[in-house]
Amino acid sequence: MDALPVVLRRLLPEPGSVTAIEALEGLALADLASDHRPYVVLNMVATADGAATVAHRTASISNPADRQLFHELRMHVDAVLVGAGTVRTERYGRLVRDPAHRERRVARGLAPDPLAVVASRRLTLTPELPLLADPHSRVVVLTTSAADLDECAARVSYLRPAPGEELDLATMLARLRTEHGVRSVLCEGGPNLNTSLLPAGLVDELFLSIAPALAGSAGARSIVDQAPLAEPVGLELVWLLESQSQLFARYLLRP
Ligand SMILES: NC(=O)c1ccc[n+]([C@@H]2O[C@H](COP(=O)([O-])OP(=O)(O)OC[C@H]3O[C@@H](n4cnc5c(N)ncnc54)[C@H](OP(=O)(O)O)[C@@H]3O)[C@@H](O)[C@H]2O)c1
Repeated sequence: MDALPVVLRRLLPEPGSVTAIEALEGLALADLASDHRPYVVLNMVATADGAATVAHRTASISNPADRQLFHELRMHVDAVLVGAGTVRTERYGRLVRDPAHRERRVARGLAPDPLAVVASRRLTLTPELPLLADPHSRVVVLTTSAADLDECAARVSYLRPAPGEELDLATMLARLRTEHGVRSVLCEGGPNLNTSLLPAGLVDELFLSIAPALAGSAGARSIVDQAPLAEPVGLELVWLLESQSQLFARYLLRP
């Protein structure tokens, strides 16, 4: 994380100044979980014209405030869910690297590290990925593959549908709740995984960081990739923050 806390301008609901820690204080996402699945928030970044990647990465459309909010959201959840494509491209490692931040999680009644949940139907992951090579990380892989990964330093377990059945994310989220005690999930994408989560009504909130840049549409990806959604998903604005012309919107998804 960038060393000094960035002060963001709060534009809505009431004007003011907040750090990432202050903006997210009191989030209490676990309290919002229903009986049958964890509460799920999605955190994504895109340019003003909707590109979710530039040259296949997000780094150039992020800024210090974005990185601080990204990491601070991890302070508030039982689990971080991410697609195999993002784990590979963004070289995911231990989710909370700073011991002081792990202590803050513990003080909040959470495990020091969030559970890392990786969706990979085909199990296209290799043990040398930094997350899997980290002995401190606990990883649950959602997969249809009957195989296990080769020996990993991380503690890895699997959630699989019954043989011959499709992987259903609603069922997987319910099992994360009952089998792993997960009450709150932060999904960090990517666009392909979002295509399954959003139409199934499995996302409760969207944290969207809007970069002050235009990337053009040729070859660009949006935060929800592939086929158009059968119906637009409605959003209700909760708050809006700003830093260096980057906007940070928190939306509730309308059922
Ligand atoms: N703008 C942002 O905020 C943001 C956020 C994250 C990532 N990204 C960017 O997006 C790109 C990576 O995203 P991506 O869309 O290619 O990949 P992704 O969504 O991270 O991962 C896709 C993979 O996840 C697995 N998967 C997807 N849906 C699944 C389902 N319903 N059940 C089980 N497994 C499922 C499949 O893995 P298998 O193929 O192994 O079966 C699939 O190939 C990178 O360029 C990254 O930088 C941007």
